[in-house]
Amino acid sequence: MLGRLALVALSLVTFNYAHLSQLDDQSPLRVEPPAKRIAIVGAGTAGVSVLKTLLVDLPEYATQRWEVVLYEQRRDVGGVWLPDLNPPHPPELPETPLYARLVTNTPHPTMTHPQFPFRPGTPLYPHHPHVQQYHTDLINNWNLSSHLRLNHEVVEVQWIGTPESGRWTVKVKDILRNEYLDSEFDHLIIANGHNHFPFEPEIEGKDAWVKSAVNRSTLHSIFYRDPQSFTGQNVLVVGGGASGRDIAQQIVQFANSTYASVRERVGNPSAPPFPVIPGAVTKPGIRWFTQDAIVFEDNTTLTHIDTVIFGTGYEQRIPFLTEGGHLSLLPECPTGPQAHLTTNLRYVRPVYEHVLSLDTSYPVGSLYFIGLPIFVANAISDYAQALFTAHTIADPSLLLSREEFFDDLLHEEARLRADGLDPGYVGHRIVGEGGATGYQNRLVGYLQARGLAGQPGIPRGRPFTDPWRSEYQGEYLRRGWTRVEERGEEFVREWLEGIETEQQWVDMMARLTEWEKQHEEEEGTYDPHAQAYSVPEI
Ligand SMILES: Cc1cc2nc3c(=O)[nH]c(=O)nc-3n(C[C@H](O)[C@H](O)[C@H](O)COP(=O)(O)OP(=O)(O)OC[C@H]3O[C@@H](n4cnc5c(N)ncnc54)[C@H](O)[C@@H]3O)c2cc1C
Ligand SMILES: *[C@@H]1O[C@H](CO)[C@@H](O)[C@H](O)[C@H]1NC(C)=O
Ligand SMILES: *[C@@H]1O[C@H](CO)[C@@H](O)[C@H](O)[C@H]1NC(C)=O
Ligand SMILES: *[C@@H]1O[C@H](CO)[C@@H](O)[C@H](O)[C@H]1NC(C)=O
Ligand SMILES: *[C@@H]1O[C@H](CO)[C@@H](O)[C@H](O)[C@H]1NC(C)=O
Repeated sequence: MLGRLALVALSLVTFNYAHLSQLDDQSPLRVEPPAKRIAIVGAGTAGVSVLKTLLVDLPEYATQRWEVVLYEQRRDVGGVWLPDLNPPHPPELPETPLYARLVTNTPHPTMTHPQFPFRPGTPLYPHHPHVQQYHTDLINNWNLSSHLRLNHEVVEVQWIGTPESGRWTVKVKDILRNEYLDSEFDHLIIANGHNHFPFEPEIEGKDAWVKSAVNRSTLHSIFYRDPQSFTGQNVLVVGGGASGRDIAQQIVQFANSTYASVRERVGNPSAPPFPVIPGAVTKPGIRWFTQDAIVFEDNTTLTHIDTVIFGTGYEQRIPFLTEGGHLSLLPECPTGPQAHLTTNLRYVRPVYEHVLSLDTSYPVGSLYFIGLPIFVANAISDYAQALFTAHTIADPSLLLSREEFFDDLLHEEARLRADGLDPGYVGHRIVGEGGATGYQNRLVGYLQARGLAGQPGIPRGRPFTDPWRSEYQGEYLRRGWTRVEERGEEFVREWLEGIETEQQWVDMMARLTEWEKQHEEEEGTYDPHAQAYSVPEI
């Protein structure tokens, strides 16, 4: 009896549903879980994933009195996959870097929330509208639209309280009404994406080069919309990431001449070389510009370039957090113990496992990030983070102390340095043990180790991420699918016929990989290293 009373007292202080779920429904111990107000910022892959996880994957009695609101500044869900209907003129930034011809560079079964595949009949590497549709399907499948506040931009957030308790005041602009509203929340989950603030390297002589001849210009890939506008031009595309490669590949068909400038792969000299783009000439990094020429690191020059397109990535900014005084911009990333959130525009610190803020202004568990990791399969990474977030919000007793989390962060950073890497440069690239899959398994393993195996999305007795998710990023599959599409619609339909479940998609990718490998062996074009090229930069 005494033990039971003690449990009641305890659960009033820290509501622990892992305990409660073991009690039967008639139990007098069933205490009301605390009401919580939770705000999510952003309705891209990350925000939609955490919304679904909070409302669908937690036990219903844990979330009964929760108020969960997702603010999205744009007209619909989908994030970067939702087209910008009226892209502004540079330098005003578009809402998304999306361009008309964008087709995914990853097979869609690897871009999913587990057990929720893309619609039957979706081409393996789909044109972008399929990906936006997938986000809408996620919302509708679980009836989550009443939680969305579309056309609402979060402009500033502030913690009102102490390091032990308090709340967030969130200032939101209702864009259609042009009104500002303030609301209060216990937890803030930031999923604002990272392809919104272009990074363009400072290169000596660039401005003078532009000005010293008519019709010369530079632009960042965020402004790229279609290859036709480069008809007859001489174009240099800078950056060997997905954006740079894709844009160069498209422009080749219209430009008079196309060049791709790729720097040596910093920190990874053994990485396979940048694949040749048919029709484009590969150049090294740019050393500088003179009035007449672009000079490369090998001292070769180009004098006839009209346009330079920078596919050089993005800066990690969170303006509404900075506005409220909760994220400082620093040129150098701090290394030691540190009290407040900072960003050097690559690395937000201190954040435990890229998900949980350790800032000392508010309690651990007040501020989470979903989607900080880059160059990962986002949907599955977001889901691992969302599970960690949802369960630690529901049951704060799952959280370690700030000091323990901080020790873990320092340990991770020390490990990077031991490998010769600068944590401030690596930022939110996942380069740890087991790569992205290892990271996801670690995050969910944290929950498994605390008695949550068997809850929705958290497997029992095996790692979180299915191994097939990291097996099908390769080029065989891509080349195989290209060959399928080249044979015509009828053949495409044959490959997609009857494929609905996740397992059926996985089996189909395995068949297609085999089919392509066999073809390449027979043709003598088989290259065992071709698969090794992974995309270093968006
Ligand atoms: C051109 C391009 C091609 C890509 N191709 C692939 C691919 O083939 N395969 C792949 O796996 N990944 C690809 N990606 C990566 C892609 O970004 C991720 O897959 C994923 O969609 C990112 O989702 P997210 O939710 O993290 O961010 P986002 O999609 O950027 O979503 C963030 C959302 O937050 C909203 N938001 C931001 N600030 C505020 C605010 N203050 N108030 C309210 N709302 C706010 C934004 O409007 C946006 O809707 C590509 C990215 C780009 C740019
Ligand atoms: C979806 O939500 C509406 C109202 O918000 C409700 O009437 C309906 O029953 C819900 N459907 C499902 C499948 O939960
Ligand atoms: C500059 O561009 C315009 C429009 O594309 C073209 O008509 C003109 O001939 C160009 N001028 C030079 C010097 O190339
Ligand atoms: C077309 O490209 C070639 C290099 O491939 C260059 O020598 C030539 O000057 C270019 N012509 C025009 C009109 O820009
Ligand atoms: C290129 O030129 C610079 C001086 O302008 C020189 O320092 C450098 O060694 C040269 N590099 C190569 C690869 O020739």
